[in-house]
Amino acid sequence: DAPKPLKGKRALVTSGPTFEPIDPVRYIANRSSGRQGHAIAAALHRLGAEVTLVTGPTRLADPPGCAIRPIETAREMLAACEAALPVDIAVCAAAVADWRVAGESDRKLKKDGGGPPGLTLTENPDILAALSQSTSQRPALVVGFAAETGNVVEYATAKRIRKGCDWIVANDVSPGTTTFGGSENTVHLIRDGGIEDWPTMGKEAVAARLAEAIAQHFNQPSAT
Ligand code: C5P
Repeated sequence: DAPKPLKGKRALVTSGPTFEPIDPVRYIANRSSGRQGHAIAAALHRLGAEVTLVTGPTRLADPPGCAIRPIETAREMLAACEAALPVDIAVCAAAVADWRVAGESDRKLKKDGGGPPGLTLTENPDILAALSQSTSQRPALVVGFAAETGNVVEYATAKRIRKGCDWIVANDVSPGTTTFGGSENTVHLIRDGGIEDWPTMGKEAVAARLAEAIAQHFNQPSAT
């Protein structure tokens, strides 16, 4: 049998986009495929962790062995994450919408001759920051993602401090890269001790290497 270094550990993974309703038939979304987050859930499970995957709508098959919590909005994602606590490990790979429509309509907006409706946006909860800054149930290891266009490492390093997470997986999503929706990813792992630049790899390989790094972290003599 394959070694299970994360046996006995509980992990929470967020994946995919969120859908933020405008009215009963329309929503705001983004191009996240969920591939990286789903691959991470699968990789943590393979190393023996008990995994809850909180996911926005994707076209992907459920990764085997994981408890799947499907959600649509950022607020639902936060509630599902809180319900999954306590966990030892949280990996936030979801592309959460930063904003939702304030005062979503409970009726379909109509073309009534009065011109296009104005949409007022309001801020969504930041799930990564909420988990990182939880006073009562903070996971021992919180990992965030940072999709940046330019100054990737610099911005991601600042994001790690601002959000209060332990590690950041930073990737370049500049035009010309195919990270969003594609099968490959070029990432930098940013930790307290320094930065690792990983070669371009398939998202499954990135997931496997990240899961290995997590297992190593928990199996260090000093780790909790
Ligand atoms: O601030 P930004 O969206 O660039 O941060 C990206 C990281 O924060 C990702 O790990 C993402 O999953 C997480 N995030 C979140 N909730 C939000 C926004 C981002 O968990 N509302």
